[in-house]
Amino acid sequence: MNIILIGAPGAGKGTQAKILEQKYGMVQLSTGDMLRAAVKAGTPLGLEAKSIMEAGKLVPDALMVNLIKERIAQADCAKGFILDGFPRTVAQAEALDNMLAEQGKSLDKVIELKVDEAALIERVSGRFTCAKCGEGYHDKFKPTQKAGLCDKCGGTELSRRKDDNAETMKTRLKAFNEQTAPILPYYRQKGLLVSIDGMANMSVVTKAIEEIMCASS
Ligand code: AP5
Repeated sequence: MNIILIGAPGAGKGTQAKILEQKYGMVQLSTGDMLRAAVKAGTPLGLEAKSIMEAGKLVPDALMVNLIKERIAQADCAKGFILDGFPRTVAQAEALDNMLAEQGKSLDKVIELKVDEAALIERVSGRFTCAKCGEGYHDKFKPTQKAGLCDKCGGTELSRRKDDNAETMKTRLKAFNEQTAPILPYYRQKGLLVSIDGMANMSVVTKAIEEIMCASS
């Protein structure tokens, strides 16, 4: 099954994609994670994306389309994928349709996680991640069991993203409302869009996604 999780910054896309990956063996394709890896490695893409991401703006479509096109063609994606953070513009959505058609693949569902703006800001401000294994946490909603130690791998380097601050969040939300939200009618018209309440707790959101996946399999 191939799905897209769509939602504003902090809506819970990454959290849910990781749960689905672990439970069902689908591949999480997070363009944000791919870009952060490129920035860390200092690749040409990373060098171009770094300041754009720190400002909370969108990286140019052509770069993103090439990145995802190469990744989606890899063998592991044949068992199903979850797109998390892509597409983010109508141009990216159209390019995705073309690349999937070329590869004989299609989308099963596009799932929108709807979360209030105040909750998005609270979620993003409290988020941190284990630098060693990538496990995500939240000061209030998902703290580590032992302070300063990752529950999953015992890593001690728990880091916060540079773009997770109130000022950059304003630009990220603007980018979502102006450039990403227009994708919703695009997928509604194709009969692929389902919207769910992303305000619910994490396990309730997972259950809602599983019900949608079950109904379309
Ligand atoms: P990206 O990494 O994709 O960031 P984003 O879309 O802003 O989304 P986030 O990762 O912030 O949020 P999320 O929805 O995954 O929430 P999470 O599950 O972590 O992109 C970063 C940047 O890269 C962009 O700004 C842009 O510059 C660039 N970029 C990436 N893709 C691009 C593209 N296609 N085109 C152009 N540019 C691109 O949850 C957040 C927190 O809330 C966590 O701490 C979590 O524990 C907690 N939480 C999750 N669910 C719940 C819940 N149900 N209840 C309570 N807490 C919850």
